[in-house]
Amino acid sequence: MKPRTIKNNISSVGAVDWDRRLFDSLIPLPDGTSYNSYLVRGSEKTVLLDTVDPTKTNVLLENLQNVVALDYVIAHHGEQDHSGAIPAVLEKYPKARVVCSPKAKGLLADLLGVHEEKFITVGDGETLSLGNLTLEFAHMPWVHWPETMVTYLREERCLFPCDFFGSHLAQSDLYVTDEGRVYEAAKRYFAEIMMPFRTNIQKHLERLKNYKIDMILPSHGPVYQKPSFILDAYREWVSDTPKNVVVIPYISMHGSTEKMVSHLVSALAERGAMVDQFNLADTDIGKLAITLVDAATIVLGTPAVHIGPHPKIAYAAFLANALRPKLKFASIVGSYGWGHKIVEQLAGLIPNLKVEILPPVICKGYPRQADFASLDNLAETIARKHKELGLNCV
Ligand code: FEO
Repeated sequence: MKPRTIKNNISSVGAVDWDRRLFDSLIPLPDGTSYNSYLVRGSEKTVLLDTVDPTKTNVLLENLQNVVALDYVIAHHGEQDHSGAIPAVLEKYPKARVVCSPKAKGLLADLLGVHEEKFITVGDGETLSLGNLTLEFAHMPWVHWPETMVTYLREERCLFPCDFFGSHLAQSDLYVTDEGRVYEAAKRYFAEIMMPFRTNIQKHLERLKNYKIDMILPSHGPVYQKPSFILDAYREWVSDTPKNVVVIPYISMHGSTEKMVSHLVSALAERGAMVDQFNLADTDIGKLAITLVDAATIVLGTPAVHIGPHPKIAYAAFLANALRPKLKFASIVGSYGWGHKIVEQLAGLIPNLKVEILPPVICKGYPRQADFASLDNLAETIARKHKELGLNCV
């Protein structure tokens, strides 16, 4: 996209990546993404806030072709999707200095080979004058790296939070126009990137209450002209209270586990729980991550493979453990042929989840009446546990 004016002194000069389908060689991007970079012109100094992914350096440089002088590049975060074009920008503007936190300086030197003399480090709360405009920097570590900071443009009441509040969404509109679409994309982003740092983000959200914010300009996805939309969503996502949701990632090889999951889903629904089941034979793990943001209970469904759980379920357990959602309960259902260590092995994969393990239901071969009765008991236990937490079950 060409440069677009947001305000007289602020323009968007980054790149939309419509075709990217995977981030970190792991995270699905069904809707592409964008690497937002913003140019702010003060009466005395001109500054670029973040750059773009190295693959889109040409777009950024093209968008800067009429910018004769650049004084500063603000690097909120070291990850290359925002910092990757810094060397090219410094080559074009040799007098420009990279402004970042002390921790980011080390990372940018290591990752990009930026030379020591190019940096200006700023402390938490420090300001930088552009003449008629003032940038205030707030260190906000662990959204999602340790060096991260955000910038507040005081006179315009604009917040530039980099990854914080971002969404992987490629669109031609600069702003949020379809709230439902952006909500899901931002929640997916939060689930995959930020959820493990929920408690840090709670503190950062509290701190942001001290700022009057008219607009949030993240480094992925659309700009928020209504900050309360994303601030309220984040407050809900980082809260310690789960919802009355059971998430069931499962896989079935010959139909037994599928039959058990199907029975359990109905039994839970009859008792008023909301259930999301994900067949991991072919699923978008981002959808699973989104459901984990709110879920109170996870039930892993797996057949025995060489005694242990199916590797795809082991992956789901490992992923949930890494994302550290606010789950309170966990259980396991599945089937085996001649022997298994499903429960021990899966329980060993989720040490980060501070969950109560509810009695698993593992059957030999195809499930029978007694197994379905055990699944009913599990559904009853989950519903009771949810009710005890004040979550709404009938
Ligand atoms: Fe969008 Fe952590 O980089």
